[in-house]
Amino acid sequence: MNVRAKVVIAAIGAAALFLGALAAYAQGSVASPQPPAAPPEEPYQPSLSDIMAHQQERHIKLWFAGHFGNWPLADYEIGELNDGFDAVSKMLGGDIVKQHVGSPLDALQKAVDGKDNAAFAAAFDKLSAGCNACHHALDHAFIVIARPGARPYSDQIFLPQK
Ligand code: HEC
Repeated sequence: MNVRAKVVIAAIGAAALFLGALAAYAQGSVASPQPPAAPPEEPYQPSLSDIMAHQQERHIKLWFAGHFGNWPLADYEIGELNDGFDAVSKMLGGDIVKQHVGSPLDALQKAVDGKDNAAFAAAFDKLSAGCNACHHALDHAFIVIARPGARPYSDQIFLPQK
């Protein structure tokens, strides 16, 4: 067989392979490329330290709300703290949260309901002590919470609104 004949046969072979593949593709026996599936949406799970950073923010705002006698805002921040601690409680299990901050939060709620500045300040300090006792119990004694000195949220007005 001369070279020319070999080239013609090779070309016919290649064409046959191509047509075969085309037919298989048309029949659907070769998977057509699929776009990659998007990863499933994971619900956002905040970490304990994420929740704590929010608790710190609420603790600060609660202080200024009570300090300025803004009782509706203080009531709101206590609710937010309770929600945050519910999440912590679910995460850690047991009654470690209630044990440390349960009664100070109840005392704060009472003080706010009674619009009692002195009771508010006393209960607030008990709450901070509860935060610290839990940090101590869970090997984070170096995180120490106290009354805030300066008002960091200068874009929020803490004075009671009419
Ligand atoms: C149930 C026990 C418990 C209670 C109650 C608790 N904490 Fe914590 N807190 C922790 C633990 C544990 C960490 C360390 C979390 C980590 O890093 O995983 C922490 C961390 C923190 C941090 C560091 C977060 C950061 O990213 O810098 C702050 C601030 C904080 N807590 C504030 C508070 C405040 C304010 C309260 C009270 C209103 C409070 N915590 C009550 C257990 C507690």
